[in-house]
Amino acid sequence: MPVLQRASWEADWPIESMLVWDKGPEVGMGGCRGLRSQYELIALLAQDGYQIANRSTKDIWNVPWGGSAPRNNHPAEKPTALMVKLIECSTRPDALILDPFAGSGTSLLAAQRTGRRAIGIEMEEEHCETAARRLSEEMALCSANAGDERRAENERRPENQL
Ligand SMILES: C[S@@+](CC[C@H](N)C(=O)[O-])C[C@H]1O[C@@H](n2cnc3c(N)ncnc32)[C@H](O)[C@@H]1O
Repeated sequence: MPVLQRASWEADWPIESMLVWDKGPEVGMGGCRGLRSQYELIALLAQDGYQIANRSTKDIWNVPWGGSAPRNNHPAEKPTALMVKLIECSTRPDALILDPFAGSGTSLLAAQRTGRRAIGIEMEEEHCETAARRLSEEMALCSANAGDERRAENERRPENQL
């Protein structure tokens, strides 16, 4: 928290809210002295004039990171569902998302799924490659779905029916 408070003060972006991400019961073992942590804190820092999209959004989110979730060889990978929810709740549809610690690219994937543009920075080449692979798989899936929708639309047209 002191690091976050200092960053908020130096950037002149006040901490507007603290969000608790409840990961559900399937979490790692943790250290041997303290409790086994089931949550992470997420800070919302905002400049003057910022407004949350939906003011009834609560500050405790249960997004399970179950043992069956796909992993991408990154020790701190976040669930895509969490990043999608964060982007939708905190940004406008025309927003540009910047993730300077992009890791396996989850936030970039979430930006793609929510129609936002995104820039990711990551220092480990292996993770950059993972992020690039995940994004290209997502885009291939989008093109395949778009193709399926176009084909279905064509088949529905009366002039194309036998
Ligand atoms: C907590 S992880 C991000 C995980 C990501 N949210 C995901 O779902 O995969 C932080 C990442 O930041 C990267 N990183 C740390 N310091 C960095 C720096 N100075 N510049 C760029 N990347 C950095 C690490 O290599 C690591 O992959």
